[in-house]
Amino acid sequence: MNTILKKETLSPSVKLYEIEAPLIAQKALPGQFVVVRIVEEGERIPLTIADSDPERGILTLIVQEVGKTTEHMGLLDEGMAILDVAGPLGLPSEIENYGTVVMVGGGIGIAPIYPITKGMKAAGNRVISIIGARSENLLFYIDKMKAVSDEFIITTDDGTSGIKGFVTDELKRLIDEGVKIDRVVAIGPTIMMKMVSEVTRPYEIPTIVSLNSIMVDGTGMCGACRVEIDGETKFACVDGPEFDGHKVDFDLLMQRQAMYIEQEKKSLECFRENLVHRI
Ligand SMILES: Cc1cc2nc3c(=O)[nH]c(=O)nc-3n(C[C@H](O)[C@H](O)[C@H](O)COP(=O)(O)OP(=O)(O)OC[C@H]3O[C@@H](n4cnc5c(N)ncnc54)[C@H](O)[C@@H]3O)c2cc1C
Ligand code: FES
Repeated sequence: MNTILKKETLSPSVKLYEIEAPLIAQKALPGQFVVVRIVEEGERIPLTIADSDPERGILTLIVQEVGKTTEHMGLLDEGMAILDVAGPLGLPSEIENYGTVVMVGGGIGIAPIYPITKGMKAAGNRVISIIGARSENLLFYIDKMKAVSDEFIITTDDGTSGIKGFVTDELKRLIDEGVKIDRVVAIGPTIMMKMVSEVTRPYEIPTIVSLNSIMVDGTGMCGACRVEIDGETKFACVDGPEFDGHKVDFDLLMQRQAMYIEQEKKSLECFRENLVHRI
């Protein structure tokens, strides 16, 4: 059992949880994730370790409520416990002094990009961060991201904060202005990571993306998370989740992510109906 020590609402659908998990907190590295199961009969879902404090034995998870399990988690309050948290899983991010790195976080992707950005800054890189969301009320971690960036850019699709447009517009602008970029790391919706990779491809800028394929065990045993990288099958949970964006078959990934939409919709409807009956 992992107790929720703190819960905070970051935006209408995004909540931050600090949970007690001393063994995982001691080992967690940027880029890694945990697999969480809230109740005995519940499914397992992967969540990135947005931050960890080994001294206090605490992990920070940031969760966007998009379906049954994430909505269920949203109903848990401080003092309550999550049934089990397994991790740290996945390969850690490669963090070195590359020179100038551009860190791109879109939507809920701002959560996983933060620990990697912090690591890139600590490794001596010049860090340019671009974070974006559909609208101002979906942005979070602005001060934290600013604190670990040399240059910090916000974009919103509707122009309610920062520059109106997409994160890719700002990345393209930097390239067009002749900024020498040694590496790009992009985390966010799959379509955003695909577009970032298309922007950098002609310039051969190494581009790393973190793939959010459907996962079950998170340990390489079930095959649910398989992705195609340069024509080869890989398991995102053990071979990733980070991969070379120029080699990812994003269209196949998007197809696989949408495979259970009908079942997910039904499951959420059932969950909400049961809640109403219980009230
Ligand atoms: C390595 C990794 C790290 C992630 N980190 C975060 C994070 O830090 N914060 C966050 O909010 N979300 C994160 N996600 C996505 C999160 O796991 C899904 O949003 C969650 O599983 C949705 O479950 P649900 O029951 O609420 O919604 P559902 O209605 O079941 O699903 C909604 C959508 O989420 C995706 N999804 C569903 N089940 C899974 C699953 N078992 N594994 C992966 N994706 C799934 C599918 O694309 C689906 O269409 C991460 C995913 C991966 C692979
Ligand atoms: S989640 Fe089962 S093999 Fe990756």
